[in-house]
Amino acid sequence: MSNTLFRTKKVEQSILDTEEPEHALKKSLSALDLTVFGVGVIIGTGIFVLTGKVAKENAGPGVSLAFVAAGVACALAALCYAEFASTVPVAGSAYTFSYASLGELPAWIIGWDLVLEFALGTAVVAVGWSGYVRSLMDNAGWHLPASLGGRDGAHGFGFDILAAALVLVLTAILVVGVKLSARITTLVVAIKVTVVLIVIIAGAFFIEGKNYSPFIPPAQTVEAGTGIKSPLIQIMFGWAPTNFGVLGIFTAASVVFFAFIGFDVVATAAEETKNPQRDMPRGILGSLVICTALYVLVSIVVTGMQKYTELSVDAPLADAFKATGHPWFAGVISFGAAVGLTTVCMILLLGQTRVFFAMSRDGLLPRFFSRVHPKFRTPHRPTILLGVIIAILAGFTSLSELAELVNIGTLFAFIVVAVGVVVLRHTRPDLPRAFRTPWVPWVPILSVMATLWLMLNLPAETWLRFAVWMVIGIVVYFLYGRSHSRLARRPEAVGGSGPQNPPGPSAG
Ligand code: ALA
Repeated sequence: MSNTLFRTKKVEQSILDTEEPEHALKKSLSALDLTVFGVGVIIGTGIFVLTGKVAKENAGPGVSLAFVAAGVACALAALCYAEFASTVPVAGSAYTFSYASLGELPAWIIGWDLVLEFALGTAVVAVGWSGYVRSLMDNAGWHLPASLGGRDGAHGFGFDILAAALVLVLTAILVVGVKLSARITTLVVAIKVTVVLIVIIAGAFFIEGKNYSPFIPPAQTVEAGTGIKSPLIQIMFGWAPTNFGVLGIFTAASVVFFAFIGFDVVATAAEETKNPQRDMPRGILGSLVICTALYVLVSIVVTGMQKYTELSVDAPLADAFKATGHPWFAGVISFGAAVGLTTVCMILLLGQTRVFFAMSRDGLLPRFFSRVHPKFRTPHRPTILLGVIIAILAGFTSLSELAELVNIGTLFAFIVVAVGVVVLRHTRPDLPRAFRTPWVPWVPILSVMATLWLMLNLPAETWLRFAVWMVIGIVVYFLYGRSHSRLARRPEAVGGSGPQNPPGPSAG
């Protein structure tokens, strides 16, 4: 039994599968496309919306340190992601990689986890986008009925029609082809980065030194009885739950981590990259470095413009300009945010369909979903199915708790990838690796520790929801995936020997 659960798929077989004409994606992306893709999905709701909330509730001006902490954890993970994406350049990101390194059950778990990350992430960003668009519409005097503005503002029935419509339009674009969407992405990313630079450069003139004092507000005990909503680490060690102080910076880091999600998505496009061995590491690390620098600068500027206690929770960047008497800038920023969030949504949706596609190609989900469109060569079936489900989700759900659930799922994937890098070095030292994670195993070990630390700073409630989702996934695997796995039918595709690799055909 454990033999089949930990059967691994040969890396060579993974690459071979991508060459079957009926299941092959078009190779059209360059390093620049990937970096633009990365920046396109990374900068989004995290910096535009969450910065204000965490500065106000958890970290004060120290939120910039939270961005540094989350950025360091992501950089460590990115070094691991870059190695695997350049070794196993196949659609499906951490899923494919785990299949080659850890085995089928861990791969299934990670695939199921990524479906959660991308689907909910898309929904979260669509809802954030809809908020910005509604605020722009309000400025122009057009008001949507409350019942069509999402669940938060509505009494009784509430459906976020804008969020749902956005997801459906993006789904259609993705079905038509990734090159088209990459072009749209480039334009939108340019607008988004310009707006972020406006915040940094214009905002720097409105900084008042007194707003930085205290830079790290003293710790405040939060009321008892909020148990399950407290960070798991505080419950585990029986600490009195606090906001602010040094611990507050880490709580903030576990939330603003959402702002970094996306560099891992770059890895899901490996199979569509012209020269993945060279371009993948450049795309992943390049986009991460650019975004980290921008985040730290934006958070320093914004908390300098306005006292952290007065920052807005809905549109902190735009509202800081309003508060300093510059509504014109605020309008431009809201516009840029609305435009920018569109690509975030689109690329998360793309990552989502590619993971689903890879799982279906391996037979763990019905193979029906991995037939590419005869003309567009895109996996249109999972794209449409998931697009519709996410549109409904985006219509009916509200933001903040979903964002934390997305974070825990992503962090979990980081751990699996870091472990996978070490395992694959032992089981397949022979594989060509265009990019090698430096100082293995130390960088992967540090990556696991930093990631775990962020996870432990998430609320206990989030851990519980994550556990429920994972249990459902394991049930689905045992009821469907295990017996339909293509690997089970093709023993020759099973990986070589090693601690995780059962030898020879008996593994199938
Ligand atoms: N990093 C992306 C965002 O902040 C998901 O919206």
